[in-house]
Amino acid sequence: MRSGNTRRSIPFRTNPLSDSGVIGLFDSGLGGLTVLRRVRERLPLVDVLFFADQAHVPYGDRTHEELLRLLRANLARLDERGVEVIVMACNTSCAIAERYGWPYSRAPVIDLIESAALAVERAGFRRIGVVATAATVGAGSYGRTLRKRIAGIDVVEVPAPALVPLVEAGMVTGAQTRAAVAEVCSHLPLDLEALVYGCTHYPLLEEHFHAALGGVALIDPAVVQAQRAADTLGDRTGGDATTTYLTSGDEGAFHDAVARLMALAPGL
Ligand code: DGL
Repeated sequence: MRSGNTRRSIPFRTNPLSDSGVIGLFDSGLGGLTVLRRVRERLPLVDVLFFADQAHVPYGDRTHEELLRLLRANLARLDERGVEVIVMACNTSCAIAERYGWPYSRAPVIDLIESAALAVERAGFRRIGVVATAATVGAGSYGRTLRKRIAGIDVVEVPAPALVPLVEAGMVTGAQTRAAVAEVCSHLPLDLEALVYGCTHYPLLEEHFHAALGGVALIDPAVVQAQRAADTLGDRTGGDATTTYLTSGDEGAFHDAVARLMALAPGL
């Protein structure tokens, strides 16, 4: 039997020893919530286990070697829980896997960068910006994946190391965050058709990206990612789907941050 957190009246469960899920989803931190939101829209009846590796956030500043080790550990952790499918919610981990190869996992993995490329292809854009962590941009995975799928595409990748710490600190609104997003966007070409969120933390800053970029289309790869998860699992019926939230960091701070973000961004 699952047990809930009785200390707080927020709608999630946290018992690391007894909870599992059909879908395993992980990120370095709170960015995973933006993928979870899309998964919930497509698959409201499926149990989800969301793991936030906040003991190691931000991933974007780590070496490729460290990131590969963390990716292996996170896949193994979800495999141990017996999940049926792993829905990646961390671009940085996908970038490392694209560069060095996917580590073994028993459960099939749905790759977020492939989903991003599919989203761009479907929308028909040809002049694309990607904002992502320093590690993701350094790996060059977005450019390679997009160019492989879409001949003749123009891709500019811009690192945004300041943004993940702001989101993890709960600073998704306010002048400091708006200025940080504007600074990142100032490095993008002026004739951009669309910007891809190459990090799952960034959709939480959508209002600032809109403010900085005006009419540029903003692409959240999580929409296609969730659709691919639904295609993989097929129709599921049932009643009491649960979402289990786990962190390798401070549990109380994690719960508070999730609750705060849920209040700020309805639909999370
Ligand atoms: N949200 C993650 C991503 O999509 C990682 C951010 C970080 O920890 O630097 O890349």
